[in-house]
Amino acid sequence: MLKPPFILAIAGGGSTYTPGIVKSLMVRLNDFPLAEIRLYDIDSARQETIAPVVEKVIRDHSQTIKFTTTGDPEVAFSGAHVVFAQMRVGQYKMREQDEKIPLRHGVVGQETCGPGGLAYGLRTILPMVELIDMVERYADSKAWIVNYSNPAAIVAEGVRRLRPTARVLNICDMPVAAMRNMGAILGVDRHKLEVDYFGLNHFGWFTRVLVDGEDQLPALRRHIAKFGLLTEDAAQTDPQHSDPSWVKTWRNIKPIMDNFPDYLPNPYLQYYLMPNEIVEHQNPDYTRANEVMDGREKKLFAAAEEYKRTGILPDAFHVGVHGAFIVDVACSLAFDLRQRHLVIVENKGAIANLPYDAMVEVPAYITAAGPEPVRMGAVPLFHQTLLMQQLASEQLLVEATLEGSYEKALQAFTLNRTVPTMQHAKAILDDMIEANRDYWPALQKAWVNGEAAS
Ligand code: NAD
Ligand code: G6P
Ligand code: MN
Repeated sequence: MLKPPFILAIAGGGSTYTPGIVKSLMVRLNDFPLAEIRLYDIDSARQETIAPVVEKVIRDHSQTIKFTTTGDPEVAFSGAHVVFAQMRVGQYKMREQDEKIPLRHGVVGQETCGPGGLAYGLRTILPMVELIDMVERYADSKAWIVNYSNPAAIVAEGVRRLRPTARVLNICDMPVAAMRNMGAILGVDRHKLEVDYFGLNHFGWFTRVLVDGEDQLPALRRHIAKFGLLTEDAAQTDPQHSDPSWVKTWRNIKPIMDNFPDYLPNPYLQYYLMPNEIVEHQNPDYTRANEVMDGREKKLFAAAEEYKRTGILPDAFHVGVHGAFIVDVACSLAFDLRQRHLVIVENKGAIANLPYDAMVEVPAYITAAGPEPVRMGAVPLFHQTLLMQQLASEQLLVEATLEGSYEKALQAFTLNRTVPTMQHAKAILDDMIEANRDYWPALQKAWVNGEAAS
C-alpha cells in the first residue's frame, strides 16, 4: 500500500477546477496527508496565472506542504504517489468548435455528447496515453491516476485498448452531483444515500436510492414529476451546477421521467432523448463554452489578478462535490477503504447483458488494487439497446483513432443517436476534421492517403 504523506501531481494544473480540488484536499489533510502538490500543464502561462491562487489555498492550511509548478514531466511525476488528471485537450477554444460545428448542422452541440464529444475524444485518447506512459516511467510503481479528463467514456475505452493494465481510474462527478440534489430533496446528506446505477459515462440510470435501507426512488419520482431534480425553491446546494443552463438540465429530468418513470436518468440523457428541443434552445453563436469563458474562467483569472495586486484573494472558485469526490476516491484507493462509489470500470459481467469488456459506469468498491464492480444484473431491452448503440458509437470512434480510419469515424458519428442521418454525420465530421487540423495530423494523413481519398 502507498505510504503517506503523499506526493500528488495534478495534470492539467491550469484547470479552472484546480483551486477547488486543492481546497478539498486541504480540508481533508487528516484523511489524506500530503507532502507535496505538483501542478503539471503544457500551457505554462495559464498554469502560472492560477498557481498563486493555489499556493494561497495551500498556505492557508499548511506551511509545510511543498508546492511545485512545472511543464517537465520528470519533475512533475518523479516519485509521485497519486496523479489527478483533468486535461482539456484543445482548451475552451476547441470546446467552442465541438459545440458550434454540430449546431451549424442542426445537431446537438455538447462538450461530451454527440459529435462534439466524439471530436473531443479523438483529440484526447493519445495525450492521455502519453500521460500514462510518463507516469509509469517516473512515478511510484503503485501510483494511481484518478482521471476526470473528458470525454471520460471514450478516454476509458481508449486506455483499455492501448494500456489495459495501467493503474487508471476514470471518474465523473455527474452521478454524485445528482445524488447531492437527491439528498437536498429528501432532506438527508448525500453520503447517506446508497444507490444502484447502470450505464456508460454520461449515459445511465439510477435504479434504486436507499436511505437507511429504504428505497426513496418512489418519493423522488413524485417530487421530480413536479420540480425536476431540484428542490422546490430550486436553491442549489452546490454552485458548480447552478448556472441557468444547468437549472434547465436538472428540470429536464421531469419530461424524461414523465415518459419513462422506472429509473432516474443521468441528466446527460437529455441530449439523446430530446435532442430537437435542446437544439431549439441552444444559441449557435453563444454556447456553454462561451458561458464558461465569460463566467468561471474570467472570474478565476480576475481573482488571480486582484490577489496579485492586493494580496487579498476574493471568493472566486467552487468548492463542492467535484473536489470532494476525487478526494474520496483517492482516499479509498490509497488506504484500501473499499468505499462504494460510482466509477467507470470494465464491465466483467456487472451489467449482465452488455459486453464483458465494455467500459461501464456502475457502483464499485474502491480498493488499493482498484475498483471491484458491483453486479447490477441484466437491464431491460430498452436501456440495453440505447446503451449498445452508444457503446458502438464510442468504440468505433476509438478504433477510428487507432487505425486512422475515416470510415470508422463516419460510422461512429452516424451511429450516435444525436445525429439524424449519414449525410449530417459526414458534413459534421468533415467540418470537424478541418477545425481539428492541429490535433489530428496523423489521422488526417491516413484519411487523406487512405479511405478518405477513395
Ligand atoms: P481548462 O481548460 O480550464 O483546464 C484544462 C487544462 O488542461 C488547461 O490548463 C490545459 O492547458 C491543460 N492541458 C491540455 N492538454 C494537456 C496535456 N496534454 N497535458 C497537460 N495539460 C494539458 O478546463 P476545465 O473546464 O477546468 O476542465 C478540465 C477537465 O476536466 C476537462 O477535461 C473537463 O472536461 C474535465 N471535467 C470532467 C468532469 C467529469 O465529470 N469527468 C467534471 C468536470 C470537468
Ligand atoms: C459535469 C460533468 C462533467 C462536465 C461538466 C461541464 O460536471 O460531469 O463531465 O465536464 O459538467 O461543466 P461546465 O460547467 O464546464 O459546462
Ligand atoms: Mn462527467
